[in-house]
Amino acid sequence: MRIVAVADLHCDEKRRPRVAAIARAVRAAEADVLVIAGDCGDGVEQAGEALALFEGVGGTRLMVPGNHDLWQDATPFETRRIYEEAIPAVAAEHGFHCLDRGPVIVGETAFVGAMGWYDYEMRQREAPEGDLTVTPINVSLREGGKMGFSAVPGAAETGWEGLGPEEYAANGLVWQADDDPPQVAVWSDPLHLDWEQPAAEVAAAMAQHIRAQIGEVAGRCSRVVGVTHFVPFAELADYHLQSPRHAYAKAFLGSPLLGEALLEAEGLELVIYGHRHRQEVREVRGVVTADAAVTGGDDMPLLLTLTG
Ligand SMILES: [Fe+2]
Ligand SMILES: [Fe+2]
Repeated sequence: MRIVAVADLHCDEKRRPRVAAIARAVRAAEADVLVIAGDCGDGVEQAGEALALFEGVGGTRLMVPGNHDLWQDATPFETRRIYEEAIPAVAAEHGFHCLDRGPVIVGETAFVGAMGWYDYEMRQREAPEGDLTVTPINVSLREGGKMGFSAVPGAAETGWEGLGPEEYAANGLVWQADDDPPQVAVWSDPLHLDWEQPAAEVAAAMAQHIRAQIGEVAGRCSRVVGVTHFVPFAELADYHLQSPRHAYAKAFLGSPLLGEALLEAEGLELVIYGHRHRQEVREVRGVVTADAAVTGGDDMPLLLTLTG
């Protein structure tokens, strides 16, 4: 079975010609299955425009959304409705099955998956560079779409090692190195979406959802392929970043709960994911993992062949 995979298309007006070229390469690959592992665009409308570029691609077309696909410009955020209804509907409109709605079996191979979420477990524990003091800061959306900052009650200046799940949940960080002016890093999801539930709970529910799909396909296939948008194994986040801004963003990479759930599938051979914007194929715990990102200038679709 030949699978062609892409992730993180981020199709806006500027990237549209690039995504169209990627779609042409996908069409030329003539694979049995196309997998898009999330972040087609910002919001449902852009996601639909991206999916439309894959018209005419033969075989089975599967997708999971990414965080960006759920983004909205204005409140009230209807994140759950967008995730459960709007995204699967726009996928179906363009001939894609949204895996979050349920597994798909192609021949002897079952495809299970869901977008996933982050729980800050992949945060960078070691300080990015030198002596840094950091302060978590609450980031929220103010009237007129402006970003608002407010102090986190009880939060004090700390070293990098003082950053835990609670601090990351504030979604912003201020730091000052040496005599440089203070800098701020923001994780933008809360400005565009709201699960009305802590992130870790969303990640755990996604893992549970994948587990249920695995139960559904058990005994009906000889091999399983998992698909997530968020990073499913801590091993895939084991690089060290020097820039505080980038190191901060690592907390939002994904959740090891996703990988744990996937590993329960008998015959799991391949896991396709995205969100890191770093294309890479690597074996983790006996499973081939593929970050199918096509965000880099030279990135082309991944062609993955399962044999036997
Ligand atoms: Fe992305
Ligand atoms: Fe993403």
